[in-house]
Amino acid sequence: MDSSSSPAPPQAPARSRGASNASQRWSILRRALLARSSSRVPERTSRDQDIKDEANNISRKASRGFNLIECHSLPISELTKSLENSSNGNESDLGCQKDVCVNYKLPCGGSSLNLVYRREDSLELNDMEASNRYNIDTTGLVCCWPSEEVLAYYCINHSDMFRAKKVLELGSGYGLAGLVIAACTNADEVVISDGNPQVVGYIQKNISINAETFGETKVKSMILHWDKEHASEMLNSFDIIVASDCTFFKQFHESLARTVKSLLKHSATSHAIFLSPKRGDSLDKFLETIKENGLNFESMENYDSTVWNLHKKYVAGDDRTWPNYDKEHCYPLLVRISSFC
Ligand SMILES: C[S@@+](CC[C@H](N)C(=O)[O-])C[C@H]1O[C@@H](n2cnc3c(N)ncnc32)[C@H](O)[C@@H]1O
Repeated sequence: MDSSSSPAPPQAPARSRGASNASQRWSILRRALLARSSSRVPERTSRDQDIKDEANNISRKASRGFNLIECHSLPISELTKSLENSSNGNESDLGCQKDVCVNYKLPCGGSSLNLVYRREDSLELNDMEASNRYNIDTTGLVCCWPSEEVLAYYCINHSDMFRAKKVLELGSGYGLAGLVIAACTNADEVVISDGNPQVVGYIQKNISINAETFGETKVKSMILHWDKEHASEMLNSFDIIVASDCTFFKQFHESLARTVKSLLKHSATSHAIFLSPKRGDSLDKFLETIKENGLNFESMENYDSTVWNLHKKYVAGDDRTWPNYDKEHCYPLLVRISSFC
């Protein structure tokens, strides 16, 4: 899934689709195993080529983002050093060779966040195995996608909305938006979730290393797969749900819509904010599913003048710093979902 890739594969009926997703993941794994156990590159069949194309569609990194929040990379060793005297400074928990750290300077109260990410192109066999075991893709490990930064920026600029609220981020990947909400707003509680347990390992790491930034806000990570039944204490409990770039997966549209419906507090002020590029017809299809589930939505193209002006410059070619910028895959629309009209 990248800025130049085509959207999700055509839909098959739910059962065979589950089987075909699994068999694709295993085939990718098989190729990786063969490549590892032999210096000879395994012979490639046309089926393998289809699978490779598919894998490229779902797992390639976006080349860059909107650069809305000032950030720079930090060697993991620096992070370890700066946390040496802190109670959270358990070195072994911080990160390893395959990780990098990015420091974000937040435009709120001079605070900053350190996020540990997987190094680019370091997807491993156990990632594929976990992906298969938990029926989940690996896009959360690939990078922080451009929409996530836009979501974080939007939340900073609308911080009042979160005051004293219970907030949930779905499919959060590394959790930038959830962490920003925890650091820059007076939310009561922020739950940062993803369905991929390995991704949630990173979310927890990122919560731990930034714990001192959250003030009174309670912050926790959670494995939350949209397809699974949700714990009864979660139902009807969140004032605000946020998500970025989660509508690409058509096989999960129904369960994602049901998750929003069942976890959102049933009140006139509760709502979900999704930032999602159109990615073919995937966003439109998701919005149809939202309606079918009895929820309402409004979708906005121009919701922030800074983001909109950057977008217009990339499209017009006036700013060439994002050369493969493609509106369909890079520009997130803002969708506001609620149970009430
Ligand atoms: C494209 S990534 C976006 C990650 C992050 N929000 C961002 O924009 O950087 C999609 C995320 O959704 C998660 N995801 C996909 N299917 C899911 C499901 N059925 N249940 C829960 N999470 C899911 C993936 O693990 C991944 O982290």
